Amino acid sequence: MGMVQMGSCMDYVAVEEDLLTVIPESLSFEEAGAAPTVALTAWQALFEHDRLQPGQLILVQAGAGGVGHAAVQMAKQHGAYVIATARDYNHDFVKGLGEVFNYTKVDFATQITDPVDIVLDSAMDQSTFGTGVPGEIGKKNYSVIKDGGTYISVVAFGKVWMK
Ligand SMILES: NC(=O)c1ccc[n+]([C@@H]2O[C@H](COP(=O)([O-])OP(=O)(O)OC[C@H]3O[C@@H](n4cnc5c(N)ncnc54)[C@H](OP(=O)(O)O)[C@@H]3O)[C@@H](O)[C@H]2O)c1
Repeated sequence: MGMVQMGSCMDYVAVEEDLLTVIPESLSFEEAGAAPTVALTAWQALFEHDRLQPGQLILVQAGAGGVGHAAVQMAKQHGAYVIATARDYNHDFVKGLGEVFNYTKVDFATQITDPVDIVLDSAMDQSTFGTGVPGEIGKKNYSVIKDGGTYISVVAFGKVWMK
């Protein structure tokens, strides 16, 4: 399994060897097809674009989405305290890993009282998608980040270092 830049939905594709790894026995073929892109995106965000530390507080927007569910698990396994947003039907999954808010019912920015070290935004918010600028979620994300914290978006605009 692996991740290619473009054009992986084909019968055959040429890929550099170092972009591939052996599928673990614990993964089905379908899971192995779905996992690398979201998992590598989450990994790069948390550990390459930033360096998530054990004990840090991280807010994952869309914690049950493709990128988000990988990020939530990686952050938890790394010893971070996780807050996530997701709708109710996704709460069972995220709740076991951290605190979760339904973004359709509560304003996360008013619920989060401790300053957040990192926000990873993977929300498919229709009002911001493809615009290249943060919308309401973006503004609220900034409001919960502590001084010197990090805002990483995989949605429509790049990483912005705070202060
Ligand atoms: N997939 C990748 O490998 C990858 C790589 C790089 C970048 N991206 C980008 O990252 C973004 C997410 O991709 P994805 O594959 O993770 O998408 P996805 O699986 O569709 O998940 C997106 C989630 O966004 C949540 N959402 C929608 N509106 C929201 C809001 N207002 N506040 C909080 N959450 C909200 C929904 O959560 P609920 O279901 O709980 O409502 C939805 O499940 C996209 O813009 C994509 O282009 C993805």
